[in-house]
Amino acid sequence: MKRLFMQEVATRDGFQNEATFIETADKISMIDALSQCGFAKIEVTSFTSPKAIPALRDAEAVMQGITRQPGVEYTVLVPNVRGAERALGCGIDEANLVMSVSEPHNRSNLRMAREDSFAQLKEVVSVIGQGPVAVNVSLSTVFGCPMQGDVPAAEVLDWVARFADLGVRGVTLCDTTGMAYPSQVQALSAQVLKLFPELQVTLHFHNTRGMALANTLAALEAGIDRFDASLGGLGGCPYAPGASGNVCTEDLVHMLDLMGYDTGVDLDLILAASARLPGLIGHATPSQILRAGKRLDLHPIPEHVHNLSRQVVSAVAEVAK
Ligand code: COA
Ligand code: ZN
Repeated sequence: MKRLFMQEVATRDGFQNEATFIETADKISMIDALSQCGFAKIEVTSFTSPKAIPALRDAEAVMQGITRQPGVEYTVLVPNVRGAERALGCGIDEANLVMSVSEPHNRSNLRMAREDSFAQLKEVVSVIGQGPVAVNVSLSTVFGCPMQGDVPAAEVLDWVARFADLGVRGVTLCDTTGMAYPSQVQALSAQVLKLFPELQVTLHFHNTRGMALANTLAALEAGIDRFDASLGGLGGCPYAPGASGNVCTEDLVHMLDLMGYDTGVDLDLILAASARLPGLIGHATPSQILRAGKRLDLHPIPEHVHNLSRQVVSAVAEVAK
């Protein structure tokens, strides 16, 4: 059974986008529940400017309040040196740096040119140093930008190379607004794996155009074994027009379980956690499996079918007399 590594991002990519502020204690309780599910990594929160992302203004309190589960890595989003210093003070396992490979998206999300982002992130990498904290870089809009359109694969590979040269442990290829399609995903994933065999490569899909599960299959075919997903399908970048939820964790795990992959994740525990989300965020989630049930969650045969078969049996008996 092929082992896959599932990374839960709902409390960062999901909660950053919710209109109602989710109380710190509720965030902590949700992360503690997720810690029991078998994820390889949980993206807990982000150490961004509280003005930019008010929903996650309690990052320190959340990071310090959770109960760490051995075997689970706790990662956080870090946009700059200030964020790195705050995060390092909370004992993170990994810093997830972020920049966009498209110039207009980088300028709208991070308010600076890509080269300025790179210079800042290079500084963040040196602040974190070669100590116990790992560095991952999430590259946004690698499969297309809602303002620019296509981003040439060569340009994406160049950004991956520049971060690999800085010695980061991993790179995440993010389909920020659901523009990726399967053949594109397979080609780019294969190239990245071939050119950067030392990197931990994650794929991060949004289901904006309904292609997230298909894109996951394409990435698996290329040899990718690490995926971000969001409980209930929450998520979306506040600075990406038309962005919507990440691929839904339970929908993804349900499919991968059926196909015989070892995700390490307990689907029933995830579903129980996902069922708590509407109470926290005040609206339903796009989770399909929560609504429909698992494939073999069978339903009782309706009474009218029993009545009908009883009628048939007695009619046959009548005729036989
Ligand atoms: N933590 C806390 N505060 C921070 C901070 C951080 N990591 N980075 C900047 N700030 C504060 C500054 O102190 C300053 O506060 P002040 O106005 O009270 O003086 C304010 O934010 C602006 O700082 P500045 O350095 O001018 O940054 P900026 O306005 O250019 O913002 C980012 C840059 C990247 C910090 C900001 O745009 C951001 O956090 N964006 C969020 C991106 C994101 O997470 N998007 C969704 C995920 S992809
Ligand atoms: Zn995302």
